[in-house]
Amino acid sequence: MEILDGRLASQTIREELKLKTAQRGVEGKKTPHLAAVLVGNNGASETYVNAKVKACAEVGFKSTLIKLTEDITESALLSTIEKLNVDPDIDGILVQLPLPKQVSENKIINAINPLKDVDGFHPVSVGKMIQGLDTFIPATPYGIMLLLEHYKIETAGLHAVVIGRSNIVGRPISILLSNNTQPGNCTVTLCHSRTRNLEALCREADIIVAALGKPEFIRADMVKGGAILVDVGITRVADPGKKSGFALKGDAHFESVAPKCSWITPVPGGVGPMTIAGLLKNTFRACEEQDDSSEQ
Ligand code: GUN
Repeated sequence: MEILDGRLASQTIREELKLKTAQRGVEGKKTPHLAAVLVGNNGASETYVNAKVKACAEVGFKSTLIKLTEDITESALLSTIEKLNVDPDIDGILVQLPLPKQVSENKIINAINPLKDVDGFHPVSVGKMIQGLDTFIPATPYGIMLLLEHYKIETAGLHAVVIGRSNIVGRPISILLSNNTQPGNCTVTLCHSRTRNLEALCREADIIVAALGKPEFIRADMVKGGAILVDVGITRVADPGKKSGFALKGDAHFESVAPKCSWITPVPGGVGPMTIAGLLKNTFRACEEQDDSSEQ
């Protein structure tokens, strides 16, 4: 069994971005600038957004964190987005999900300028992704693809079982793994809460992407020997022994599952850092594309 080390792979990507960003500076070009919008006081969301802002600083990007209260109205959030859309200094806009119930996530996502859609959630980005066109790919599935690429995992012809059908992970990764690319060229089964015989399907999988958000759901008897396991789960589970009061658990029971796998992502240190790498790559791309088009 070998580890798909997301910290290591993301480090490589971040170093490359740091060099490219410094090079832009040398050439007198604009510094990539991410605007992150955080609504409310969800502890996990705060942690994620803070990690994204910190990662921006590490690679030399600018970032602006906009914190809004839980009771924000939809129209107030829409006008925040509009300001960011037209601000020439902002290259990428990220609105951390979930949003409070009075705000329609779809309306907010649709309001983001597709040129600045570094989360890849806008229908224009999603449509392009489905057509196999070059576009912003949602950060987590993008990170997973980058991780498979980093470790040169040959995926052509493999049966990938994706568990979870969210727009953030399950659906986009099922599309990407089925694309005629490397990594890709998989035969994909997309499973969800109503799937029958989920355990049997998992046992047939060459690759399992677990993105259902149920801690330690995948047990050793659900995994075929030699399978590749990508664990997207990162659930906070109460742990009085920890200073924070919680431990982070993946969707797989790592200790029992890992010995059966050819490759496995740890939690933390697997998909999480790759999500950040994906976001940074998207932000850099947004900057290059907008900056280059404004020069002409
Ligand atoms: N919530 C959970 N994952 C994500 C993500 O990748 N982007 C945003 N914006 N919100 C999320």
